[in-house]
Amino acid sequence: MKGYSAAAIGKFLIALAFITASVFPMDSTTALSMKEGTMKKSLGAKTIVFPTPVFVVGSYDSTGRPDVMVVAWGGICCSKPPCVAVSIREATYTYGNIMARKAFTISIPSEKYIHEADYCGIVSGRTEDKFTATKLTPVKSDLVDAPYVKEFPFVLECTVIKVVPLGLHTMFIGEIKDVKADEAVLGKDGNPDIKKIEPMIFDPVGRAYYGVGGYLGEAFEEGKTIKKKD
Ligand SMILES: Cc1cc2nc3c(=O)[nH]c(=O)nc-3n(C[C@H](O)[C@H](O)[C@H](O)COP(=O)(O)O)c2cc1C
Repeated sequence: MKGYSAAAIGKFLIALAFITASVFPMDSTTALSMKEGTMKKSLGAKTIVFPTPVFVVGSYDSTGRPDVMVVAWGGICCSKPPCVAVSIREATYTYGNIMARKAFTISIPSEKYIHEADYCGIVSGRTEDKFTATKLTPVKSDLVDAPYVKEFPFVLECTVIKVVPLGLHTMFIGEIKDVKADEAVLGKDGNPDIKKIEPMIFDPVGRAYYGVGGYLGEAFEEGKTIKKKD
């Protein structure tokens, strides 16, 4: 600012700061966060969420050969009817299989099958027979037109009720026709026990697999310590 004294510039900056603070006042939370250095840093629009599952999706090709692929972009999406969604790229062999057969299964591998499961996520059934390579056993579902993995302890059998093209991925919404579990992973109450299944979690940031952690508390209960009494 040529022609202005340092004192004049200083006064101008103080006035500007005052005007800005009055026009855009900070609420007390923002002020507190900034003071304590706890402002969240924006990381951009990314496909990160914690945790994501390790689903092994089973399908038949046009010749009836079974294939399996890993899907981390998926989860339960409706309670009634019971539905699960898996998002799959058109480039995969599985995509064409599910489009043609309108059915798929989800087998949940235990931690000890980390090598076999990961293999299903890095090789295509278009060129390899993944069941032969992994020595896993395909079992024909008695309810839907798709195979599941015998060695994996927990299975969903689904028929496709909706196909939603989203972009790179297409979401297949499957109605769950049955849930099957090995006797060995059932608890005393007859329900599947997460500790016995030992499912894996995929970390999309570190591109790594984790086991599930320990018991923390009861869902629909722990919040009651805060909920107002009616
Ligand atoms: C941990 C992991 C998660 C994956 N998640 C997905 C996913 O959600 N959707 C997808 O289209 N591909 C996903 N993939 C890649 C497919 O599993 C992979 O392209 C596979 O080879 C496709 O097999 P296919 O050609 O026999 O169908 C994932 C791979 C790994 C290792």
